[in-house]
Amino acid sequence: TQAPVNVTVTGAAGQIGYALLFRIASGQLLGPDTPVKLRLLEIPQAVKAAEGTALELEDGAFPLLAGTDIFDDAKQAFAGTNIALLVGARPRTKGMERADLLEANGGIFKPQGEAINAGAADDVRVLVVGNPANTNALIAQSHAPDVPAERFTAMTRLDHNRAVAQLAKKLNAPVSEIRKLTIWGNHSASQYPDIFHAEVAGKNAAEAVNDEKWLAEEFIPRVAKRGAEIIEARGASSAASAANAAIDHIYNWVNGTREGDWTSMAVPSDGSYGVPEGLISSFPVVCKDGKYEIVQGLEINEFSRTRIDASVAELAEEREAVKKLGLI
Ligand code: NAI
Repeated sequence: TQAPVNVTVTGAAGQIGYALLFRIASGQLLGPDTPVKLRLLEIPQAVKAAEGTALELEDGAFPLLAGTDIFDDAKQAFAGTNIALLVGARPRTKGMERADLLEANGGIFKPQGEAINAGAADDVRVLVVGNPANTNALIAQSHAPDVPAERFTAMTRLDHNRAVAQLAKKLNAPVSEIRKLTIWGNHSASQYPDIFHAEVAGKNAAEAVNDEKWLAEEFIPRVAKRGAEIIEARGASSAASAANAAIDHIYNWVNGTREGDWTSMAVPSDGSYGVPEGLISSFPVVCKDGKYEIVQGLEINEFSRTRIDASVAELAEEREAVKKLGLI
């Protein structure tokens, strides 16, 4: 059998952490043949709660779980890590300006980037979930110069899955029949879920929908504002669905996307589709042999172009803002 893969989860005592850890321990992150060792990072005040979760993990008697260690120090938490799930972040609170939010998160993601640079395994893969995810990923990446830049990614998979589900519902099709949907840009309200290349049971989905009003006035805002809809209904933000998306993101990155499909990941731009190089923006990606590649050569129509550009412009502004703050 294989040696355990080290998986670091930050914000482990939070609500996404609670939904995520048991699924990792059960083998859903990497597959049923891969043992995992969990390394949980929390702030000192939340270490006790993380210890409680670790007791429950023990009580799961998961055959694939080789152990759980808890840290309040980033250097230790990321030492030897192969998969780093950066979930813990500073949420926006009332009256907080964007610069304050970025600065507070810089205080988290800069030292975490440094710790990954200092001690993570050579094959480390990083997924940033904590918001503002794309820009937090950029901050961490810029403090990890020895780690290949493309190993830093941010999560738009929840948006992707939400879009797949809404499209399937509209077309009265099973979700498994939806392929090649794309989330472009930022994980924010400006994101653009694109169905023009999507397929439903092998046919073009935009043609099958044939309803631009639904697309512009229902589908796109519904997906973009789904987080608010969940908060309104649940009284708390998306947690299990976010954890599920994090599992999907890493599972596909490591084990590949299915034949004839792609997924959405926010990854450092190589300049594809006019997205300025280096911005961590969501793209259609195919994963194979443990690597992802941005799908090339898609035709972008006018409807999509405007929306992609708007979301990418927001990312460029965030990058400027963190540059000004000296965070990158
Ligand atoms: P939560 O507030 O329940 O948990 C966050 C945890 O992070 C807390 O336990 C806190 O103690 C911990 N934490 C804070 N600073 C830390 C640090 N420096 N090191 C380690 N741990 C730290 O929040 P929840 O619901 O689990 O969400 C976590 C993040 O994920 C939020 O930023 C949220 O906005 C984001 N999110 C992103 C989604 C996406 O699609 N990209 C979807 C849903 C949530």
